[in-house]
Order: sequence, then structure tokens, then C-alpha cells
Amino acid sequence: MLATLAPRIERVAGKLPRRVFVLTSPEIWALWGGTFLESFREEPIVLFLPAGEKYKTIASVDKLLRQMVRAGGDRGSLLIAFGGGIVGDVGGFLAAIFMRGIRYVQVPTTFLSQVDSSVGGKTGVNLPEGKNLVGSFHHPLAVFADVDVLGTLPGRELRAGLMESVKAGIIRDRGLVRYMEENADAVLNRDTKALEKVIAASIRVKADVVNKDERESGLRMILNLGHTVGHAIEQVTKYKVLLHGEAVGWGMIAALYLGVKRRALTRDQAMRLERLVHRYADLPPLKLSVKRLAAATGADKKNVGGVRRFVLPMGIGNAGVVEDVTQAELEAAISYMLSHAKGPRH
Ligand SMILES: NC(=O)c1ccc[n+]([C@@H]2O[C@H](COP(=O)([O-])OP(=O)(O)OC[C@H]3O[C@@H](n4cnc5c(N)ncnc54)[C@H](O)[C@@H]3O)[C@@H](O)[C@H]2O)c1
Repeated sequence: MLATLAPRIERVAGKLPRRVFVLTSPEIWALWGGTFLESFREEPIVLFLPAGEKYKTIASVDKLLRQMVRAGGDRGSLLIAFGGGIVGDVGGFLAAIFMRGIRYVQVPTTFLSQVDSSVGGKTGVNLPEGKNLVGSFHHPLAVFADVDVLGTLPGRELRAGLMESVKAGIIRDRGLVRYMEENADAVLNRDTKALEKVIAASIRVKADVVNKDERESGLRMILNLGHTVGHAIEQVTKYKVLLHGEAVGWGMIAALYLGVKRRALTRDQAMRLERLVHRYADLPPLKLSVKRLAAATGADKKNVGGVRRFVLPMGIGNAGVVEDVTQAELEAAISYMLSHAKGPRH
């Protein structure tokens, strides 16, 4: 697919404009730049963003915008974000604000960006005070996800990204849960058909939820299953120990525990889902204090007006949001999570 990108983009955007920008990272370009360029008659202008959260900043955006102006970019220009979630978020934000907004497409290259971050229109950068605190909603014209590109993705990144698919199944698609249970080997061995199936189903879940609630006033919240505790883990460990998907995996285990306590799902259902999380993620054990983690959940961006929002799984393929989780319930869920590094006890 990557080798035929240009005509595919023209099918949705019309004839390519005079200035086409590609935002990518040096590593991804070294691996896949050759294939990327195959279908372009005229070479696009390649802009580089080094890998890592520390470059997902206003300073990078400033530098890149100026490069775009100097290279002759105008309101008709098109941007292609070719990389993982960081490139996608920064590329989308550039497209949202350059000349008050230009068209762009996403060509995601990590599992996480294929199933999650490239869909839904959220773009932006970090501040020293926190992640994703500046940004804009700006939808791409299209998302082109090539499963073959995942061939070079480190295994840990793949597994972490798969947590978003497990999440999609738990909140909205019991068929996806079953498929992931029955085809774990194929998916983890990167069998193309199996990956395509999981990716397509995960995107359907996200697109469906976002279509119904783009601005996160209600339903979109359920996409944050596992994120309240997950973000707390990331914050307490200063984003240095776990990948985002791994933190979400841990957070989902806490949420499953709470779901059982609230009788939103049965113990058997929770055990089944917990096994699925552990089947896909290789979660590094956590040695953290319950109290510290519980306190850190108060800082979650999704909390509004001091109310702590929590997404609870309700059965398999359904979820809801509760706002009345007590401190004691939260601490019990976190304790359970911290004591289950090796998966559910049978
Ligand atoms: N916009 C949204 O809705 C949304 C949703 C979820 C996450 N995000 C954001 O996404 C970001 C995380 O994205 P990510 O997990 O894709 O991480 P990432 O963009 O940091 O990529 C992970 C690593 O994999 C490398 N890489 C990418 N593709 C590769 C490939 N095909 N082969 C080999 N190496 C490759 C990258 O260079 C990088 O080192 C975070 O900043 C997060 O805030 C955004």
C-alpha cells in the first residue's frame, strides 16, 4: 500500500498541490522512505521531527512552521504525517494552524497510531506541565494504514499498542474480544490477515464512538477505559518506565476490579478480560505506593470541576462512566492491580 500512496491520496484530495510536505522521523524515513517515495512523481518536501515525547513541543512546531513557510508552503499545501502517534499529533497540529489550516492525511506507522491516534481528529503537543495540553481538533482527509510497515516495529511497541485494541473490544465489541482470544498467536506473530482484522475492528470502534461524540461531552469518555489509573502511573513514574499502552493495560486491570465490585460485570467476565490483557501485554511489574497513585488520579485531564471520572467495563463489549468512585474503592482497585503482576489467580 505504501508504494502506491500518491494515487491513493489523489483519490481523496484531487491532484496533488505544488507543495506537499511529509512530516516524519529520521528513523522511520531511513526504514520506509524509499518505499514511500515510489509513487510520487514529484518529490515532496520532507520535514523531520526527532523521535520521543520531548520533541512533541511548541518549540518543534515553531521550527517546523518556519521551515514550511521558507519552503513556499501556502494555503493549498497538503501535509502527510508519516510516523507514530507523536508525528501524527504534531503533524495534525501543524496542519491545523499553518495558514489557519491546511489539508492533511495520516499515514500511521505504529500499531497504536493505526488503531487509535490517527483517528478522531485530536492533534497537539505537550507542555512541561503535562502531556497534550495544547492542541486542536483537526480531522485528516484520510488515514492510510499499511500493516506491512508494522514489520519493523519493536515487539514491545506492538504489544503496548494492542492494549488499545483490547480496550476497544472491552468497551464496544465482544466479537473483537473473542477474535483476539482465539487468534493471539497469529496477531502477535504479525500475521497480516490477523493484524488487519484487529486493526479494522479497533478503528471501527473508535470511529463509531467519535462520530457520536467528537468533543468528548459524553460517550467519547469510554475510550478512556484504563486511562485514569494509567495516566496516574505514567505521571508517578515520570513517563520513563512504561509505554502508554502498558500503563493503560495496568489501568484496565484496576477498572475490571472496580467493575466487579460495582456489579457491572461478573467475576468470570473480569477474569476472562484480565487474562486477555496479560496475553497481549508484557506488563513490567510496578513497585509503587497505592496512596501516591490514588492521589495522582486526581490530576487526570478528563476530570471536570474536581469530579473524578472513571470508566467502568459493563459486561463484555460495553462500558459506562461513573463519577462517584470513593477513595476507598479506588485504593482497593489499585492494590489489586499492584498485586497482580503475574495475571489473575485461579
Ligand atoms: N491523538 C490522539 O487521539 C492520540 C491517542 C493516543 C495517543 N496519542 C499520542 O500518541 C503518542 C504515542 O504514539 P506511539 O505509541 O505511536 O509512539 P511514537 O510515535 O513515539 O512511536 C514509537 C517509536 O516507534 C518508532 N517507530 C514508529 N513506527 C515505526 C516502524 N514502523 N518501525 C520501527 N520503528 C517505528 C518511533 O520512531 C518511536 O521511536 C503519544 O504522544 C500520545 O499522546 C494521541
